[in-house]
Amino acid sequence: MQFKPIYFFILICTGFLVYSFSIYMYPPSSMNGFTNDELLNAAEGKMVFQKYNCQSCHQIYNLGGYLGPDLTNCYSQEGRGELYIKAMVQSGTNQMPAFRLSEKEINALLQFFKAIDKTGSSDLRKFHIEPNGMIEPNGK
Ligand code: HEC
Repeated sequence: MQFKPIYFFILICTGFLVYSFSIYMYPPSSMNGFTNDELLNAAEGKMVFQKYNCQSCHQIYNLGGYLGPDLTNCYSQEGRGELYIKAMVQSGTNQMPAFRLSEKEINALLQFFKAIDKTGSSDLRKFHIEPNGMIEPNGK
């Protein structure tokens, strides 16, 4: 059979349609098991995080300021979680200012922390202090 460019054209058009269809089969609402509403709420929480400049002192995935700890997994860390975050934000400490957020802002913020917690974990490396005072990564 002689090669005809029209066959090739039909082939890539079909491929394009199949691929597009397969992408839209799974809407983003099924991302990480969150519903659309939860994702929207998390996006709102991200705006709260930015509005109050939390990133000037805190990191997400190790990016941000270094005065406070990384918050990527603060939602699921042992001894942390929702109540702890809420208390921390509302009351502050000697080093962290207290923020007067509305209930809506706090809830959005919590949803944001819950969502980023599911995306992975930050700083997989753990360190220990040698007897001579040097700080080395574990396993060295
Ligand atoms: C001026 C710097 C600064 C800003 C701005 C700031 N924080 Fe903090 N934050 C800190 C410091 C420092 C700590 C550690 C406090 C301590 O242990 O006494 C902390 C601790 C926390 C903790 C507890 C983390 C843990 O693992 O123990 C959370 C949660 C937190 N901050 C959330 C926020 C949020 C949300 C915002 C924005 C609304 C924010 N912070 C803004 C400095 C800041």
